[in-house]
Amino acid sequence: MCPESTANMKMTPEEVAQAASDLENATPQEVLKWALERFGDTISLACSFSLEDLTVFDMLSKLSDTPRAFALDTGRLNPETYAVWGAVEKKYDSTLEAFFPDSESVEAVVRTKGIDCFYDSVENRRLCCHVRKVELLNRALGELSAWVTGLRREQAVTRTSLPKVEYDEKHGGIVKLNPLADWTQEQIMAYAKEQEIPRNALYDLGFTSIGCAPCTRAIESGEDERAGRWWWENPETKECGLHA
Ligand code: ADX
Ligand code: SF4
Repeated sequence: MCPESTANMKMTPEEVAQAASDLENATPQEVLKWALERFGDTISLACSFSLEDLTVFDMLSKLSDTPRAFALDTGRLNPETYAVWGAVEKKYDSTLEAFFPDSESVEAVVRTKGIDCFYDSVENRRLCCHVRKVELLNRALGELSAWVTGLRREQAVTRTSLPKVEYDEKHGGIVKLNPLADWTQEQIMAYAKEQEIPRNALYDLGFTSIGCAPCTRAIESGEDERAGRWWWENPETKECGLHA
């Protein structure tokens, strides 16, 4: 898609706010249908292979013959996550768009700070997330007019006021869609089971939110669903920069 085509699809912040209000009570499928009609093939799902993201991908594949999704391969994902990646490509007979970190940037961080520097400080953790995730996302979004996530309001204190449609100023004024914003974990589980969505084996070991291997652990009973992500940090700092 050439830049002029994506430029034509742009919406103003006011139009986006109106769409968010119009679609607040819409189902995820209604939000996605609206987005596909509005943005055509310039919209893509950011897929981390969570049940949320795969729920969205399943919905997209039922609404479009050519659903798009991209994955940011940080180089530190769990083997179980790569297994789901393969299973998804097989089930839907399509390949995802993979993005990899810039090798020189990763080399610089590892050589100066150490291979597991993220445990040492929030600053180091954000630096690692930047070179292994955020920079890749910026590249992935460069040729899109809209992107879709599997974010939900009940996941974290940082996500409680998440709109279903938002103006993403940070990424050049494109549109960001969070069609599952008001879904509960139970709704995701039920949909995933019904549609036989490939499931990361780590869910059965007590993981409820899955990111990079060294920064994700299973949760204890009574802990919130993102307690196993960067568990050594305060809940308020626990965003990697993808959704600032
Ligand atoms: S995050 O802190 O890693 O961003 P979470 O795992 O809850 O949080 O992911 C939230 C959303 O960000 C996912 O639903 C997905 O849309 C996107 N996302 C997260 N990690 C990746 C990844 N590695 N590749 C593509 N998209 C991702
Ligand atoms: Fe680095 Fe951990 Fe962030 Fe992955 S989640 S990019 S390993 S700090």
